[in-house]
Amino acid sequence: MADSKIVVPTDVTIAAAAQALAAGKLIGVPTETVYGLAADATNQLAVERIFQAKGRPANNPLIAHFANADQARRWINVDDDATITWQWNLATTFWPGPLTVVAPLRGSVAPAVTAGAETLAVRVPNHPVMQSLLESFALPIAAPSANRSNYVSPTQANHVATAFGDSIEMVLDGGPCDYGVESTIIRLTPTVPQLLRPGGISTEQLVSVFGDIELIRHQAPASPSANTDSAGVEPASLAPLPSPGLMRKHYSPQTRLIKASEFDLGKMNPAKVARLYFSPQPQSDRPIAFGWIRVLSPTGDLNEVARHLFAAIREADQLPCELIVIDECSNAGIGHAIMDRVHRAAT
Ligand code: TXA
Ligand code: MG
Repeated sequence: MADSKIVVPTDVTIAAAAQALAAGKLIGVPTETVYGLAADATNQLAVERIFQAKGRPANNPLIAHFANADQARRWINVDDDATITWQWNLATTFWPGPLTVVAPLRGSVAPAVTAGAETLAVRVPNHPVMQSLLESFALPIAAPSANRSNYVSPTQANHVATAFGDSIEMVLDGGPCDYGVESTIIRLTPTVPQLLRPGGISTEQLVSVFGDIELIRHQAPASPSANTDSAGVEPASLAPLPSPGLMRKHYSPQTRLIKASEFDLGKMNPAKVARLYFSPQPQSDRPIAFGWIRVLSPTGDLNEVARHLFAAIREADQLPCELIVIDECSNAGIGHAIMDRVHRAAT
């Protein structure tokens, strides 16, 4: 049923996807990070459909996707401040790729995209199917991750079809996503770029290019209902958040998830536990009869862990288990994004 919306990308189906966008419809799109729920970023009604379908608060802005940096630049203003221009030129060296850049808005995207903010988040994704679609459509494509608000992001076409089969025209099947965690988000400023969300481009990579990066810690929301995605669509009058993606709670499975360091064998029957390892199961754990075990990387490669992370959490969430227990890793490289997602899923 929902799976009938999954479409093999060809010139013909990509042209049909572009037509669907032009007609104000929603489609599922593959990117190198996670799948997106896409609409024409210049069509207010179409963009509002994204918020409705996801149950996303209206004060949480969307990323606009472009075929290349020159096109993205037409919709933002990076010309009035020499430092911002310099940062922009360096940021574009990561494109196409998993970096999103927040800069002052200049073009007229649908107001819902920016949630009323004076900045726009722009990104040039590195996925051949998304690239073809962007070239064929020519206008910016607004796309948040194609999960219901607050749930785990989708890394396979069937994740999108299952959640949004009824609201989308189609999902272009680009295969499993290469990165598996969302793009890194930085905001350009007259001093140093701010890191708003760790993701596919590591903090070390950013520092090596920009020299310095400011790490932003999200302030806890005054009212939880104003900030949690699960609260449903919020009135547009709410002030835009600095980066709502930094909300503490996010990416949560329905089943409770904890970090391995917090697991107390004495308090829980292991048969009711789904255990996610980042590398092969250590000898010391072998006597424990966990109900379900998944090793995310047989070699402990954190890029592979990231690639499989969300699909494994989703799979565990479908089991009749009562608890998901997951490994931790260092914050180096892609580990920063992995641990950010694990902390949020565990909140
Ligand atoms: O990898 C990705 O970035 C994926 C793929 C589909 O491109 N997209 C994605 O979108 O993760 P989403 O909506 O799930 O996360 C985007 C985050 C949100 O947390 C939003 O608050 C933040 O970006 N954001 C968007 N526009 C912003 C802006 N103008 N200022 C600050 N944060 C912004
Ligand atoms: Mg998301």
